[in-house]
Amino acid sequence: MVIAIDGYSSTGKSSLAKRLANQFRFLYVDTGAMYRMVALKALREGWINSKNEINYKLLEKNLPSLNIGFRRSSDGKNMAFLDGEIVEKDIRTMEINDIVSKISSLSIVRSQLVAQQQKIAVGKDLVMDGRDIGTVVFPNADLKIFMQAEADIRTDRRLLELRSNGNLNVSFEEVKANLIQRDLDDQARSDSPLQKASDAVVLDNSEKSAEEVFKLVSSWVLEKINA
Ligand code: DC
Repeated sequence: MVIAIDGYSSTGKSSLAKRLANQFRFLYVDTGAMYRMVALKALREGWINSKNEINYKLLEKNLPSLNIGFRRSSDGKNMAFLDGEIVEKDIRTMEINDIVSKISSLSIVRSQLVAQQQKIAVGKDLVMDGRDIGTVVFPNADLKIFMQAEADIRTDRRLLELRSNGNLNVSFEEVKANLIQRDLDDQARSDSPLQKASDAVVLDNSEKSAEEVFKLVSSWVLEKINA
């Protein structure tokens, strides 16, 4: 069984996906973290510079040997793992937020990651969250959810995440502007843009607690399991 969760930035996709995976003992895959790891690698290796200019030669040469994945921490959390190093915190900074849409707009990056995402899923029950899961990665997913929420609420959530990762010098305005710009970029790119799959259920959680959303979606999952 595949549950695909797509939607705008910071709408609570990952939190919901993690809880569902725990509840139903499904594998959880955070595809945003995969694009963030490519962005981190690109920054470290000079495949992209601070002006968002791409060095295509370097990128094309080195991308096939990129080594990204996930490891479970001792307390059971999914940790982003790049070239043998846990980079969970390093991928959630404003610096990465500023370049990740550019990196994820590149077809060469998308085709490699989509192939990896499809391979991970073979023979497994899983919950995957991202932007193109219900449209491109798993167009035949059993359940597709498209999440949205008001921009101020999403900004509060992202600010909390940034601060809990030690990024203390970021302002509400800066984070909100980045979220809005990233959504626009993700919707405007030509290769697998952010859009609702025609058969996805829209879930606006501006006025719903995480608990309410979890209960609601769990009931949909149970319906599918018992169908
Ligand atoms: O979910 P997130 O904020 O961690 O995602 C980071 C970026 O990666 C986001 O701006 C868009 C991109 N992304 C994508 O293009 N396709 C996905 N399946 C997941 C994320």
